[in-house]
Amino acid sequence: MCGIVGYIGDKKACPILINGLLRLEYRGYDSSGIATIEGNLLSCLKDKGRVKNLYDLKGIDDLVGTVGIAHTRWATHGKPSKENSHPHLDNSNHFAVVHNGIIENYHELREFLQKEGVSFLSQTDTEVIPNLIHYYYQKDNHTDELKFLRAVNRACQDLKGSFAIEVICQDYPDSMIVVRKDSPLVIGHGNGENYISSDIPAILSFTKDFYLLNDYEFAVLTRDCVDFYDIHLNKIKKDIKNIEWDAASAEKDGFEDFMLKEIFEQPKSVRETIGSRLTKEDCNFDDLSFSKDYLNSIRHIYIVACGTAMHAGLATKPIFEKFCHIPVTVDIASEFRYRNPIIDEHTLCLYISQSGETADTIAALKLAKSKGARTLAISNVIGSSITREADYSIYTHAGPEIAVASTKAYTSQVVLLSILAIYFAEVLGKQNEELNCLKNDILELAEKVEKTLKNISDIKAFAKKVYKETDMFFLGRGSDYTVALEGSLKLKEISYIHSEAYASGELKHGPIALIENDVTVISILTDPKLVEKSISNIQEVITRGAKTLVITNQALDDKKFDSMITIPNTNPLISPILSVIPLQLLAYYISKEKGLDVDKPRNLAKSVTVE
Ligand code: F6R
Repeated sequence: MCGIVGYIGDKKACPILINGLLRLEYRGYDSSGIATIEGNLLSCLKDKGRVKNLYDLKGIDDLVGTVGIAHTRWATHGKPSKENSHPHLDNSNHFAVVHNGIIENYHELREFLQKEGVSFLSQTDTEVIPNLIHYYYQKDNHTDELKFLRAVNRACQDLKGSFAIEVICQDYPDSMIVVRKDSPLVIGHGNGENYISSDIPAILSFTKDFYLLNDYEFAVLTRDCVDFYDIHLNKIKKDIKNIEWDAASAEKDGFEDFMLKEIFEQPKSVRETIGSRLTKEDCNFDDLSFSKDYLNSIRHIYIVACGTAMHAGLATKPIFEKFCHIPVTVDIASEFRYRNPIIDEHTLCLYISQSGETADTIAALKLAKSKGARTLAISNVIGSSITREADYSIYTHAGPEIAVASTKAYTSQVVLLSILAIYFAEVLGKQNEELNCLKNDILELAEKVEKTLKNISDIKAFAKKVYKETDMFFLGRGSDYTVALEGSLKLKEISYIHSEAYASGELKHGPIALIENDVTVISILTDPKLVEKSISNIQEVITRGAKTLVITNQALDDKKFDSMITIPNTNPLISPILSVIPLQLLAYYISKEKGLDVDKPRNLAKSVTVE
């Protein structure tokens, strides 16, 4: 969490930095700040509150430097306040640092520095970093051009935890140093200028050429070049990665919010994720080089992820099990990593992460790797940390997802994993008619997503009816249950309404006690084999006075329910891709009715780079 940007070039840094921060606000938005260097003067302005407040800060127009670093914060250590905002300076005001991550040993570093006479102005873990850099800088008697780098490098060796750090020093007004460990940071390369950002979309309008840093790699940026060093300060070479995303895809493009735009981008993201992986003739993941012998040796597949990405795993588990006949466990990354799962070389572990930066998912991947399993990352961000850790990586092609609530990434993940399951089944020689039907159904999906998006007036009307509620329930069986979980998560995160998702059959085992007059119950019914049973469950809540919304692809009598949304029919195995859409829209319109900030819900950040 937290977003960082940096600029070094011949333009005034401040407007570029604020622009970058505004695009990174989804990563955290409780305070922000900027430090620039002009001549040998290091200036810093920061405050509590949203990034746009920076425009009104006294003195902001006087930050005329062409080298600068900036930060938008999601508080971990120390409440949101001016003192705790970044950048943080050392006591001598020589160094300014912005940091994303958590320094786990900051207590002991703080005590050590206090004994050395350093006083601390904030409660943050970050403030030890500039002071530690200054400590090593002072101890270095040389005055060569690498002195700044040596001090940063030495300080980083003392840090435990995760960090993406930008540092500027008033003695080196024409350079900036960055380093990362387990936190995201990219370097954008321009003509006579270089950029830093926590993610690619924030600086896509400036450049499409990026350098990606691995853990403990240091970059020294000047206007014209970027030099890279390993932890031992040996120079290393890095290639530029050209990123194909176009800058417009990171803009709102006439939509009121990114979330709504991203919901409506789903026909495109589904189509592009299917791409050349699945055609009428072929299902192709040959880049994975998984042989029949290897897949035959697999006894267990784990799908591990967090939040919405984990729900994409739940939605696709039945496809792997049905067609590959391999047991699949879907696990929450933060649980998986601490419960000593049974893993060996006969285990295949799939890790889903839109951002590719989620700390728990990355840690869960490292664990499986250390136990001899093959690991495959499914991410939306090329070159993201998880893809660099995994043995294999495949990508969803959802384009940049900016809204905190994940929508198009989820549907793309379900699409990609479904095709992957088909591919595994084919390599295993388990082709059959049902598998062929599923392939055709996937190829028809994008059009059906388009159709689903045409039907929004009933959802808007239902949102108007229920937005003042404090509790809601989501019900479903089979794949519909996995969508109920996702619908409930979407509602909670952007509308702040408490909700619970239950497998319809579980209702009578407890939750039905909560159903009383006027409670809202949303049911998903897309599997013809389960419809009868699910209708009986809905009837039970209607009898107890519930208000009901039904999302279905079946020809049901709509008079039975308060509202019914009909979606296109498809194979029940992939119906989550369609049935989730009305639930995304419902959460969106409820949030709008409540006047909330849809794209930046309270307490949440888009990529969760801390545990
Ligand atoms: C919910 C949401 C989160 C993410 C979760 C994992 O809308 O966005 O639950 O799905 O934080 O993020 P990634 O996929 O980036 O690992």
